Amino acid sequence: MAAAARWGRWAPIVGVLLLALLMLPFAPAPASAATPARSPLSSASSAVFLLSGDVYPVGHYYVTMNIGDPAKPYFLDVDTGSDLTWLQCDAPCQSCNKVPHPWYRPTKNKLVPCANSLCTALHSGLSSNNKCASQQQCDYQIKYTDKASSLGVLVTDSFSLLLRNKSNVRPSLSFGCGYDQQVGKNGAAQATTDGLLGLGRGSVSLLSQLKQQGITKNVLGHCLSTSGGGFLFFGDDMVPTSRVTWVPMVKSSSGNYYSPGSATLYFDRRSLGITPMEVVFDSGSTYTYFSAQPYQAIVSAIKGGLSKSLKQVTDPSLPLCWKGQKAFKSVFDVKKDFKSLQLIIGKNAAMEIPPENYLVVTKNGNVCLGILDGSAAKLKFNIIGDITMQDQMVIYDNERAQLGWIRGSCSRSPKSIMSSFP
Ligand SMILES: *[C@@H]1O[C@H](CO)[C@@H](O)[C@H](O)[C@H]1NC(C)=O
Repeated sequence: MAAAARWGRWAPIVGVLLLALLMLPFAPAPASAATPARSPLSSASSAVFLLSGDVYPVGHYYVTMNIGDPAKPYFLDVDTGSDLTWLQCDAPCQSCNKVPHPWYRPTKNKLVPCANSLCTALHSGLSSNNKCASQQQCDYQIKYTDKASSLGVLVTDSFSLLLRNKSNVRPSLSFGCGYDQQVGKNGAAQATTDGLLGLGRGSVSLLSQLKQQGITKNVLGHCLSTSGGGFLFFGDDMVPTSRVTWVPMVKSSSGNYYSPGSATLYFDRRSLGITPMEVVFDSGSTYTYFSAQPYQAIVSAIKGGLSKSLKQVTDPSLPLCWKGQKAFKSVFDVKKDFKSLQLIIGKNAAMEIPPENYLVVTKNGNVCLGILDGSAAKLKFNIIGDITMQDQMVIYDNERAQLGWIRGSCSRSPKSIMSSFP
């Protein structure tokens, strides 16, 4: 399925300009694309959002969503590893984090009743025994792998979205009003956002709801920049028409995760001799996590090839770090001392992982491994996190059940993207 020919559903002139602008580093415009046919099935448009945040020191990428009537802005952590979107919520709040904006305040008429199909879908997607306290509302408790949790009720309110066809739509979408949050290991960092944008495969995911309402296709992509920021899109007309590596999405053994199936690891193009492992793409994870065997294999391979000028040091940021003769300013100062990793998915779809996709330079000027031991975190699968997905467009196509990636720079001035919007 790799590099299957795809003809984009090209938007009108303004859209094409934006498309060209955003796509240039990824794929040269195919000459034959001048007279594309718009699919007759497609009335859905798409939406593009600028991202803020980074892998380090912020720890996540987030988007601004305008919710409510009148619409108010909220910063939401982009998470392709879970389904439910939720906000810190004053319902009233029992335990909320201090967040950038005032807590969302629901009114009684916004409650989603227990019998609603989204409530059923939400409950069935959560492992703990979730049930409604009363028929009038949909109570839930959600627990994340980092031990953080959120207790809340499902509400419906309008989202204000500017589509690429210039329409401003205000769909009513259901999300969680979280009034009791317990912080996990990364708790402190959570306070830079007002909530979470759940973009998993389940029907409660915001993207499934947008598809259900005929607004966008069930396709999303993100481009996370190594220099911070980047962009996120819903819909399929930003997807490059060539050079994307595509693999079928498989049903993950662990829930609604986006998984390309089994992968093997190579270091500097040599096999690490590990057994194939299930991987998932999760933008909600800052770092990449591998189980004990691949983790140890990577650590030995890296240590084995390391220059004498690097000495192992303790750094509060991450478990395995080195210092050089003088403090590093960025990964690009030290990149030459490290080799690339390759993730081979299925038979021959490769994801190149150069040093900047697995290393972090900390405030102390040390370079640290951004691949962590998932067995220590009791993870049952391997997570490809933000650090490894940086400077690639990663596409989650639920319409065709496939995942794709294509390398390119994700840093663009917000102005150059925004000026293409009316
Ligand atoms: C833009 O697309 C949305 C659906 O995605 C549709 O409801 C709206 O009418 C379209 N607007 C224009 C101007 O084509």
